[in-house]
Amino acid sequence: MLILNSDDLLQEIKEQKGIDLSAYSTDFLIQKIEKRMVSLQIQSAAAYREKLRTEPIEADTLLSEIGIQVTLFFRNPLVFEIIKERTLPAILDAKRTDGSREIRIWSAGCSTGEEAYSVAILLRQLLKDELSEWRILIFATDIDRKILAEAEKGLFSRAKLVETKVGIVDEYFTPVGEAFRIKPGIRRMVDFSFDDLASTERSAPSASIFGAFDLVFCRNVMIYFNEACRKSVQNKIIRSLNKGGYLILGESEWLADISKSEFTEVDDRNRIFRKK
Ligand SMILES: C[S@@+](CC[C@H](N)C(=O)[O-])C[C@H]1O[C@@H](n2cnc3c(N)ncnc32)[C@H](O)[C@@H]1O
Repeated sequence: MLILNSDDLLQEIKEQKGIDLSAYSTDFLIQKIEKRMVSLQIQSAAAYREKLRTEPIEADTLLSEIGIQVTLFFRNPLVFEIIKERTLPAILDAKRTDGSREIRIWSAGCSTGEEAYSVAILLRQLLKDELSEWRILIFATDIDRKILAEAEKGLFSRAKLVETKVGIVDEYFTPVGEAFRIKPGIRRMVDFSFDDLASTERSAPSASIFGAFDLVFCRNVMIYFNEACRKSVQNKIIRSLNKGGYLILGESEWLADISKSEFTEVDDRNRIFRKK
């Protein structure tokens, strides 16, 4: 193993990409940086920083090695099946009982938007002709402005659809050469904007104005944060949820024990939690 101080490298990534990795676990980052250096046969952090500086594509390669932008439609299909069969129907039923017709959803750390578009598709399937009676607000946020621009285009490679049922591909996508474009009706349901989850300034993305979410996805984002940041992000998300709202984490992410007391239903196996 190389002995590495990653600070300069993180600074280079910040300058180039505007992505601040300082809240990420240092061991995790060093492991990923070292892997790149070994495969490039680079011996020193200074030489690797020079590579990052002179070949901007290396920053993209490192970021995808870190895995921070990897996503799929219906990633972890069982979780999306539960969202379709249980979570969303429970939210819709509670709203109907209250006489409300508004649903607020946040995909925090949305990457290229597949998670947000997936839940938009499920709502369309569940609400069918009733859809026009509802006000559906799906806020999808990320720290990477370039990735948000990609998300807004709504154009996806076939690889992003490996977990997607063929009937859904046929109904909600238009083939464009080798790629697939999300249909405008689904595209319009999602609002993409910049938000840094690690920032303590706001408890909800500014585009949403006040949070009050019925469902928050924060999957495969906190995994890379250090413990202090993870706790503060979890608190922030809990504050942004409505009473009875749901939080969904990624499959390798855990709710801090202290946060569990905020939830009435805790499905640790599927990482689905319902706020008291
Ligand atoms: C692995 S992707 C997860 C995408 C999707 N949630 C999923 O599970 O498939 C992680 C995303 O989190 C974003 N991200 C990383 N740090 C962030 C932060 N501090 N605030 C907001 N987004 C962040 C990255 O830019 C990346 O697009």
